Amino acid sequence: MNKIPSDICNLADYERHAKALLAEPTWAYLSGFSMDGITHRRNRAKLDEVLLQQRILSADMGQGDCRLSLFGRELSMPLLIAPLAYQKLAHPMGELGAVQAAAAQGVGFCLSTLASSSIEQVAEVAPQANRWFQLYCQPNRDDTLKLIRRAEAAGYQALVVTADAPINGVRNAEQRAGFELPDGVRAVNLDGLPQAAAGDSVFACWMSQAPDWQTLAWIRKQTRLPLLLKGVMHPADAKRALEVGVDGVIVSNHGGRVLDSQPATIEVLPAIRAAVGPTLPVLLDSGIRRGSDIVKAIALGANAVLLGRPVFYAQAVAGPLGVAHSLRILRDELEATMALCGCATLADINQDCLYTPF
Ligand code: FNR
Ligand code: LAC
Repeated sequence: MNKIPSDICNLADYERHAKALLAEPTWAYLSGFSMDGITHRRNRAKLDEVLLQQRILSADMGQGDCRLSLFGRELSMPLLIAPLAYQKLAHPMGELGAVQAAAAQGVGFCLSTLASSSIEQVAEVAPQANRWFQLYCQPNRDDTLKLIRRAEAAGYQALVVTADAPINGVRNAEQRAGFELPDGVRAVNLDGLPQAAAGDSVFACWMSQAPDWQTLAWIRKQTRLPLLLKGVMHPADAKRALEVGVDGVIVSNHGGRVLDSQPATIEVLPAIRAAVGPTLPVLLDSGIRRGSDIVKAIALGANAVLLGRPVFYAQAVAGPLGVAHSLRILRDELEATMALCGCATLADINQDCLYTPF
């Protein structure tokens, strides 16, 4: 553990090693997807279908960089670690290691409500990091508000409300493997808070207390932090979020873990960008595995991307060092792709970087 195997060159290599190292139920949870994996596979397939256009003999590339300013803070590249529950499943340091890796590489880190480390501890080990907090609304508004206040007090710089997972996806691999959280890994930030009431249907149990647009409007009124809505897949929902006053949207299908058979995020991105106009920050996740994927996302309308499962895989193989290494690999790939497409900065990336088949 914590030594990087010498045959690791990219994020897929980390995934292969992680699969060999992790216990089967843990692998089933971390790598899992909903139902038949149609959306999970499509996220990758549609990114693969987007073709880039090389440009040669470009001038003035020596001063290039892939830095991004987002909500007044500088990122070394347009990437954040996605909110990921229970990171101690993959490494004992969990979120505490991942946030330090993100800080070391100058990227953002979004802490999940279901983190296995506390809001305050994560802030303490990486005070300077670009830290965002992801909120799962709680059954009681008072409890939701307590989480928001804790995040504000601990210096988190943005609030991400995840709206696409009011219920868990149907995850057959997890069911087959009998996945359960091991002792010592739990959602520590929810200790003492009541969870969903019992009920004998999805509607009675989960949907009766799921957040709605009024909840989002209420959250908007509670905080001055930049507010982002995660899980936006329809242009009309993006427009409605804008009316509520969000500061950004995250185009995400939760990595294909919730509703199966929906489109890939990359294919709905252009319509969502068109719906919200040119200036609102739009982020995208689900299937990002290469620096070239980041160029494709930006060319089709995103400002930045989030990285999900690969963070677990890197942690499982080499802990925080593996996470930092993965982030560095992505940056090297991103810079190489930008340079070959003739883009010295992120602002140069646009539809002209894409090859349009006849
Ligand atoms: C997630 N994701 C997630 N999202 C969120 O808003 N809150 C959460 O607690 C979690 N937890 C979580 C756990 C695990 C094991 C995974 C794999 C994913 C979704 C995550 O933020 C992101 O949207 C996807 O992981 C992106 O897809 P890729 O990069 O994994 O393909
Ligand atoms: C998941 C939940 C925790 O994807 O968001 O597992």
